[in-house]
Amino acid sequence: MDRNLQMALEENNNEIKALSMRELFQADKLRSSRYTVSAAGLTLDYSRQKINDQSLHLFAGIAKNLLLTTQIDALFNGQTMNNTENRAALHMALRDQNDQPIYVNNQDIKPAIHAMQANMRKLAEEIISGQFLSVTDKPFTDIVLLGIGGSLLGPLMTIDALSDYRVNSLRFHVISTLDEKPLDNLLSTLPLDSTLFIIASKSFTTFETLTNANTILSLLQQQFGPDILAKQFIAITEAHDKARHFGIPATHILPIWSWVGGRFSIWSSVGFSLMLIIGVKHYEAFLNGAFAMDQHFRTVAFSHNMPMIMACLSFWSIQFFGAKAEAIIPYSEQLRYFIPYLQQLSMESLGKSVSKEGKILHYQTGEVVFGLEGCNSQHTFFQLLHQGTPLIPIDFILINEPATCKILPKEQVRLHHQALLASAHSQAEAFAKGQTLTESIGILLKNGLSQQEAENLAPHLVIAGNKPCNLITLAKLDPFHLGALIALYEHKIFTESVLWDINPFDQWGVELGKRIMRDKHADAF
Ligand code: F6P
Repeated sequence: MDRNLQMALEENNNEIKALSMRELFQADKLRSSRYTVSAAGLTLDYSRQKINDQSLHLFAGIAKNLLLTTQIDALFNGQTMNNTENRAALHMALRDQNDQPIYVNNQDIKPAIHAMQANMRKLAEEIISGQFLSVTDKPFTDIVLLGIGGSLLGPLMTIDALSDYRVNSLRFHVISTLDEKPLDNLLSTLPLDSTLFIIASKSFTTFETLTNANTILSLLQQQFGPDILAKQFIAITEAHDKARHFGIPATHILPIWSWVGGRFSIWSSVGFSLMLIIGVKHYEAFLNGAFAMDQHFRTVAFSHNMPMIMACLSFWSIQFFGAKAEAIIPYSEQLRYFIPYLQQLSMESLGKSVSKEGKILHYQTGEVVFGLEGCNSQHTFFQLLHQGTPLIPIDFILINEPATCKILPKEQVRLHHQALLASAHSQAEAFAKGQTLTESIGILLKNGLSQQEAENLAPHLVIAGNKPCNLITLAKLDPFHLGALIALYEHKIFTESVLWDINPFDQWGVELGKRIMRDKHADAF
């Protein structure tokens, strides 16, 4: 980073460090609205961050200095952003609604994307309508997705989050680990002759996925004979030959391309199970929401660019406040799987210690991402966030509209939802404002303690406050806004990678363990 900008940032930080968040709010009555931006039906209120206009001005300068917009254009235009694997990173092409071609190695990838999407729709419609039948000629009742990491977390998260948008009663299950117990539990309860098995593996070599697929196949072949493969298995993979070798008919193999990273693959045929469950129309709205966020990221100036601002705020907390972790707190149980999803998206992308050119970095990159649904977080780990010594910035995720409820009366639904939102806002205020020693003594005196008793106990009640947090609000938890939320974090992470000069699209770190497993334990399997 430019030395002058770095010094200006340090100076700005020293100025702000001296101020409390209470003072920042007192000095500017319009702080909340001034530090709120909107995009694709989402709003970001970042007024509870320790920044001022000068910080934003400096962040914009850094973005300009690092040629962020040029890098974004390069990303969207299919340049080789993943330099260590010599690949583009073009998952955005899968949700692109423009007519212009997108080239990879001088070839327009749009026709292949459209053909793949048409194939997905055809297969989904055949399964839903009961045209595609099982080995015993039954319509499917259950789907089991076999996959791990990026080949599983996207469908798991989105299908759970969008349960209000189901268009059929297909039951959805996942198997990811090598643990024999969940596999046995699931197989012993499933109607095996009306279950569709989807093997999702970009490489079609992932040990966990292939071990599970082989175990299931041999069990099913014993019961239903060799036809089961053609009748009840679908593969999603880049390795067409390997899936054919496994025995899956070519018509039941949906492609992924090298330019779709695993953790970004929900927009590809990996999203097939989501399309099956929520139907084509809702699936398209999901893609549209992400596309709306793409447009925002590409075209809106830094001062109103949500992913860019979020990236700079994380960078700021890490660089100047020593933050090592970031908490993601959705006040919605339907977003519970958003946390592991984001853990892979963020930590696999930003967990790097050399620059794009392979130089050792002497600054922190990335952060530990963790979290839990809001009310449960309050009653488990918020104590450490309020009074512990580590500084942990928080993203609160709120949904404006209540969920669709089947049995609860409307008024009760409204009250629950209001209380949920009020809880989030109360926590955000507590993290920002904290509680002083004087306030603590006052509370204890009011509770009937003597002056001496109050003074002795009060230090334990002091809450430092000044904890940075974002409030991200979705108008509604529907396919469009969920698509936009995922794309928001994708672009935030890309911007962070530019700030740190790292490649966010490779993941060499996970290979070593896989190799040791192959080398040392291969004979056992
Ligand atoms: O081990 C990490 C990883 O390579 C992820 O990046 C990926 O999402 C996951 O494994 C699954 O890989 P595949 O889709 O090839 O089975």
